[in-house]
Amino acid sequence: MHTQVAIIGAGPAGLLLGHLLKAEGIDCVVIERQTPDYVLSRIRAGVLEQVTVGLMERLGLDARLKAEGLIEEGFNLADGERLIRIDVEKFTGKTVWVYGQTEITKDLMDAAPERGLEVIYGAEDVALHDIESDAPSVTFRRDGREERLTARFIAGCDGFHGPSRKAIPASVGREYERVYPFGWLGILADVPPCHDELIYANHERGFALASMRSKTRSRYYIDVPLTEKIEDWSDDRLWDELAVRLGPEAAANMTRGPAIEKSIAPLRSYVFEPMRHGSLLLCGDAAHIVPPTGAKGLNLAASDVHYSAAALCGYFKHADNDAVAAYSGKALARVWKCERFSWSLTKLMHRFPDDGPFERAMQVAELDYIASSDAAQASIAENYVGLPV
Ligand code: APR
Ligand code: PHB
Repeated sequence: MHTQVAIIGAGPAGLLLGHLLKAEGIDCVVIERQTPDYVLSRIRAGVLEQVTVGLMERLGLDARLKAEGLIEEGFNLADGERLIRIDVEKFTGKTVWVYGQTEITKDLMDAAPERGLEVIYGAEDVALHDIESDAPSVTFRRDGREERLTARFIAGCDGFHGPSRKAIPASVGREYERVYPFGWLGILADVPPCHDELIYANHERGFALASMRSKTRSRYYIDVPLTEKIEDWSDDRLWDELAVRLGPEAAANMTRGPAIEKSIAPLRSYVFEPMRHGSLLLCGDAAHIVPPTGAKGLNLAASDVHYSAAALCGYFKHADNDAVAAYSGKALARVWKCERFSWSLTKLMHRFPDDGPFERAMQVAELDYIASSDAAQASIAENYVGLPV
């Protein structure tokens, strides 16, 4: 089997890239280890930047997003007593969308057959070969049979644990990592949200986030030590803790209900450089991880895909070899800015176990500054809504 671009991974990054290449008449095949149901069972964040929405619009796959998504003009930072509203629309002229990232994956997955995008699910033992040559290939097993897909390029969209990044020799790559000393315990429930905009709270008992998927489905989080066990968190205990951390006003408007999903996810900042080596381009979680504060994970994957699709179009349609060579530098410039924003919002809104009175005083001063400064609010708004590509 031969194609122009072999894409490994059918998460949001792989499917988005596949659709964009197909729309430009570039041949590609997506190879995914899991089944479609498994891919869709992953619950992700729910805030989309304009760049992400813009790609769905360009593909003509934005109908459900526009029908079911909610436009958010701002969000809030709570620090015990007050709610600091960041008016994203006022400062940027733009808004974000609340729409489950899993729904984006579903929309892309459902449209694949009608757009002629081939996705091979259930591919085992996926391995990359000859990435330093102009004729790389991907081998895998399907229904017990060995198969080989040869291509001009490979796009590694296989998430943090996939084989693509590991195919780049250690002598070439560099890793940057920060692991945080807590995880987020999340609950999804079919209850109306406690507020019409998101609330990120820094309470003396710890972090809390009030988010939503729709006007009837809410998503909440608190931070917990990594040693915490999910079995120890009954729904009631979690609702009680959320009510305390989010403050009396949000608590009074909070509707409780049984958890549809409840899980603990660790927080990590990670960047791998370079994002291209030879004929392999990395996109999304395969190259970087952000902590969920700010909901940048999928949005960052989408901007990588924007750059990689443009680079591959340059190569195949305009014989522009430099476009692919420039991919890593272009993508990383934006990745680092998003890493910085996610890290700084995480630092501002969480109580770190090793922090003392000085670090807490810095948080108070920063929140105070944000509350009183249009310039500070404008900077947060600009990052939250999504930096330009
Ligand atoms: N072979 C083939 N596919 C693989 C392999 C493998 N060995 N390993 C992983 N994959 C697949 C996974 O099963 C998954 O479907 O690659 C896909 C990677 O998808 P994600 O982990 O969702 O990563 P990405 O597409 O980069 O998404 C980026 O979207 O929803 C957000 O929080 C999420 O930040 C993440 C972002
Ligand atoms: C979510 O709705 O799941 C969500 C929203 C904002 C975040 C993280 C997660 O920063």
